[in-house]
Amino acid sequence: SDAQAASTSAFSFPEVTAGVDADHHIAQGYDADVLLRWGDKVFADAPDFDPLNQSEAAQERQFGYNNDFVGFIPLDGADDRGLLVVNHEYTNDHLMFPGIVTIREVEETAEDGSVTTTQEIEVAEADESRVNIEMAAHGGTVIEIRRVDGKWQPVLDGALNRRITAKTEMELTGPAAGHARMQTLADPSGRKVLGTVNNCAGGVTPWGTYIMAEENIHGYFLGTLPAGHPEAANYERLGIPDSTYAWGNFHERFDVSKDPNEANRFGWIVEVDVMDPASTPRKRTALGRFKHEGAESVVAKDGRVVFYLGDDERFDYVYKFVTAGIFNPDDRAANMDLLDDGTLYVARFHDDGRVQWLPLTHGDGPLTAANGFASQADVLIETRRAADLLEATPMDRPEDIQPNPLTGRTYVMLTNNTRREEANAANPRVDNAFGHIIEIIEEEGDFTATTGTWEILVKCGDPSIAEVGATFSTETTANGWFGMPDNCAVDADGRLWVATDGNSMADTGRTDGLWAVDTEGEARGTSRLFYRVPVGAELCGPFLTQDMTTFFVAVQHPADGGDDWDGHGRPSYYEDLSTRWPDFDDAMPVRPSVVAITKQGGGRIG
Ligand code: FEO
Ligand code: CA
Ligand code: CA
Ligand code: CA
Repeated sequence: SDAQAASTSAFSFPEVTAGVDADHHIAQGYDADVLLRWGDKVFADAPDFDPLNQSEAAQERQFGYNNDFVGFIPLDGADDRGLLVVNHEYTNDHLMFPGIVTIREVEETAEDGSVTTTQEIEVAEADESRVNIEMAAHGGTVIEIRRVDGKWQPVLDGALNRRITAKTEMELTGPAAGHARMQTLADPSGRKVLGTVNNCAGGVTPWGTYIMAEENIHGYFLGTLPAGHPEAANYERLGIPDSTYAWGNFHERFDVSKDPNEANRFGWIVEVDVMDPASTPRKRTALGRFKHEGAESVVAKDGRVVFYLGDDERFDYVYKFVTAGIFNPDDRAANMDLLDDGTLYVARFHDDGRVQWLPLTHGDGPLTAANGFASQADVLIETRRAADLLEATPMDRPEDIQPNPLTGRTYVMLTNNTRREEANAANPRVDNAFGHIIEIIEEEGDFTATTGTWEILVKCGDPSIAEVGATFSTETTANGWFGMPDNCAVDADGRLWVATDGNSMADTGRTDGLWAVDTEGEARGTSRLFYRVPVGAELCGPFLTQDMTTFFVAVQHPADGGDDWDGHGRPSYYEDLSTRWPDFDDAMPVRPSVVAITKQGGGRIG
């Protein structure tokens, strides 16, 4: 009953009604205020956003596109002032630029001779100017924000404000830095790389640096590797090149026929020292190279720091990295290279409920020269192949992974895998359209442990459809269930919040949103809807501040699957429904935005 749920649940907010429309919706008693939109100024002297006259120079000074990870780093220990760090994962050109979309009618003849017509969108290939705007709209933003009279606002003259783009100079560090496979025409040192791309989730380290994970890097490369090139198998394992973007037409490092090693310099974890806006971001090769979803961390009992890492692809793996050094809470500088030395592990989930963490260490087991790994650099550059040889467990798309320091448990979002034909205990559904969440319990609550146990917290999807096989608690309402868990957060009280990606696309009658999920006691497996996004969007970056009074969330690609910039109808997840959120102004395109959620009158969220 409701009374029972109320008595055992860690949450008490009134649930939002699930559904789909052009606006976002927050639980009654809360405000959801747009804080930063694509194109907003990041610096006092930045130009105003002019969507019809976009330029690289303007975009480099403005908030980027498709906000994903969001973190908050307090300044001087204050609750009311800090740095918001935000990833800009990718660009949706059909929503960003007018006049570039053509709708084609495609006729298909079925076996019985009947003809159906569908609409397909064609986006004109980017010219050099558009490519450079795209590159400037990628990366990340560091921006000071302040809370004034209970509401957050950007501080445009913040001394630490910074835009990071696909052209920002970065340093490769750790075991693979400088290796011959990391050397390019433009950089014979193998240590200097320009930019970061497809920064999905991320993290904030215990020492206050900003982590950007490089995820779907394959789309940025085009061309054909020279015949017989030694990186052919390595690139194929990652789907490189995928030619989604036209960058390689104007920047030869993204053309694998011209500078074949450049793609080895992407797919890493990037660390940014936000306290120095002139600092060179570092690509930390010790944490491996794959389609990094994020890197959330926890300080273990012995002071080493453990980073949980997902590789977001069907049948890829769950990893963790354990630093060799000890976190020093009293000396920030002493922690600045902790990510260059440690052990990377990959998970094997046994059917009997045990989990084993297998070290990806050169010389161990099959990771030897006989298998093409001459050094730790080779193991890291081809992390996936090394993990294949260790017989890690292929998972249903590992996304964000969040340790809970209060309980010693860790939550793994497995978003979906409709290509799974054979189930196992940790990936229990074939054709897994809605995903599931695994809870890992490390041995003796020690996050550095190499063994532990696991169980499934919840199999996602609509519990009222028996074939789906969802396992939300019976207290979960028709609004409370979700599919496709993606990003997540554990708040200061140890409560789990899950953001989703794909509910619009799957035609579930609901958009993506933020759900509160009970993990303890009788209410375990109960989910309720706190916030939902406009049509076409996914929800990213949920981050609840330490004082529990502000939830920062990132509304990514609103209107995707709906109308383009010019209002052309196009194949839509929901026919006739699109949005110009958050401005609702015909002169303004739809804009991905970061939203600050607060309780009306102030107070603790949830
Ligand atoms: Fe960028 Fe795996 O989501
Ligand atoms: Ca994600
Ligand atoms: Ca997270
Ligand atoms: Ca996603």
